[in-house]
Amino acid sequence: MRISVIGCGYLGAVHAAGMAELGHDVIGVDVDAEKIAALARAEAPFHEPGLPELLRAHRSRLLFTTDASAVRDARVHFIAVGTPQRSDSPAADTRFVDAAVEALLPHLAPGHLVVGKSTVPVGTAERLAARVRTTGARLVWNPEFLREGRAVDDTLHPDRLVYGIEAGDNESVALLDAVYEHPLTAGTPRLVTDLATAQLVKSAANAFLATKISFINAMAEVAEASGADVSQLADAIGLDARIGRAFLGAGLGFGGGCLPKDIRAFRARADELGVGDALAFLGEVDAINLRRRTRVVDVLERELGPLIGRRIAVLGLAFKPDSDDVRDSPALAVVQLLRERGAVVVATDPVAIETARRRDPLPIYVDTVEQALAGAEAVVLATEWAEYRQLDPAAAGSGVANRLVVDARNVLDVDAWRAAGWIVRGLGRAHAPSVEDPRAVESEAKRAAERQPDHV
Ligand code: UGA
Repeated sequence: MRISVIGCGYLGAVHAAGMAELGHDVIGVDVDAEKIAALARAEAPFHEPGLPELLRAHRSRLLFTTDASAVRDARVHFIAVGTPQRSDSPAADTRFVDAAVEALLPHLAPGHLVVGKSTVPVGTAERLAARVRTTGARLVWNPEFLREGRAVDDTLHPDRLVYGIEAGDNESVALLDAVYEHPLTAGTPRLVTDLATAQLVKSAANAFLATKISFINAMAEVAEASGADVSQLADAIGLDARIGRAFLGAGLGFGGGCLPKDIRAFRARADELGVGDALAFLGEVDAINLRRRTRVVDVLERELGPLIGRRIAVLGLAFKPDSDDVRDSPALAVVQLLRERGAVVVATDPVAIETARRRDPLPIYVDTVEQALAGAEAVVLATEWAEYRQLDPAAAGSGVANRLVVDARNVLDVDAWRAAGWIVRGLGRAHAPSVEDPRAVESEAKRAAERQPDHV
C-alpha cells in the first residue's frame, strides 16, 4: 500500500522505515530540509539502532521530501509530528499536529485515512476528525508506544495496537488492519476503542511508567534515610507478579522527549477538564524525579566539600542508553547543576556529545572515557551505557585523581569497584550513607583508603 508519514523525527522516521519493512511504499514528509536530506541518503539523522540498516534495505520503497504535496498518491497518512511542552505552560503544544492535518486536507478524498500517532491531549483527535471528515476521508487515533533505542523492534513487533475510531467506522479498521497485516498475523493484540480512549491510553501508559520510576525513587529517598538498599527492595517487590521488576530502576530518574512533557501535559489537560485533582499526584511524580538530579550533586558535595574548581567526570549525556537524545536528559541536567556549583565538568558519551553540545556548548566534552577520567576527583555514571557498566574498575582507577564514583544508575558491581579501591556511592543503596550522617561517610572513606593504600 502507498502510505505517507508526516513528521520524520524519532517517531516518524522509524515508523516510515518500519512501514517499508512491512512492504509498503512510503513517502516521508518533514519541514526540516537537513533531516530529509539525510534520510534521502538513507542515513539516520539521529542514533537509533537498526534504523540505518532499514533505510538502506528499503531505499526503493522510501521517498523523503519537504514537499507536502508528494502525499497526494498515498491513501493512508500517518501523523507523527512532535507535541512538545508549550513555552508558556506545562500543556502540550499541538500546533504541529494541527498544521500537519491542515496541510493534508487538499490531498484527501473519500476512502483515505488519516492515522494520528503523536501523543496529544485527549480531545485533539475529535477536533481533527471533524476537519478530516470535510474531505470525505476518516481519522483513526493509533497511539505509538515505541521506546527510543528499541524503536525499530517496537515498530515491527509492537506489544499491542490500539485503534481509536469514530463510532461504526469499520472501514477504517479494515484499512489499518491491512497496513499492519504482518504484526497482526504474528498475533499482536489489537484493541478498537473510541477516539478519547485511544488518546488516553497513551497518556495513561506514560503516566504509569513515570509513576513507577518515581515510586521507586521515593523508596530510594526513604532507603537513604533508613540505611536500606533500594535495589534489593526493588528485586523483592518486583517478584510479586502484580508489581513486576520492570521500570523499578532507581537512580537518576526519567528524562527524554516523552515522559516528562507527557505527564505535565496530561495534568494540564485534566485541569482543563475540571478533574485536576485526579492527576495532582503527577506533580509529585515530577518533583520526586527532579530531586534525583540535585541528590547526585549533593552526594558529591558531601564527599568533596564545595565543588568550586573540582574536576568531575560525567559518563553519559543521553537520557538513556542507545540513544543520542538529550531532551530533558537527567545526565545533562547533572552536568549543568555541577557547573552551577562551580565544578569543572568533563563529560563524555558514546554518541550524544554533538546533541549535548548543541543544547549546551559550555561544558568540556571529550570523546573517550579515558580523557574524561584523567585527573578527575570524582566520577558520575549518569547514563548506563553497556560500556560504562562494563568498565574495569582497576583500569578506570589508573587515570583519576581520586577513586570516588557516584553510580547514579545503580548498575555497577559495587564489590568489584570497592575491591579496586573505589568509594562507591549509589542512590538509595545501603552503601550510600545518609547525607545526614557524615560519620558514616568518613568511616567508609577510611575503610576504602585502608584497602587501597595508593588511594589518593
Ligand atoms: C517512553 C515509553 O517507554 C514508550 O512506551 C513511549 O512510546 C515513549 O516514551 C513515547 O511516548 O514516545 P522513551 O522515552 O523512549 O519511551 O524511554 P523509556 O525507556 O520509557 O525511558 C524513559 C526514562 O526513564 C529514561 O530516562 C530512563 O533512563 C528512565 N528509567 C527507565 C528509569 O529511570 N528507571 C527505569 O527503571 C526505567
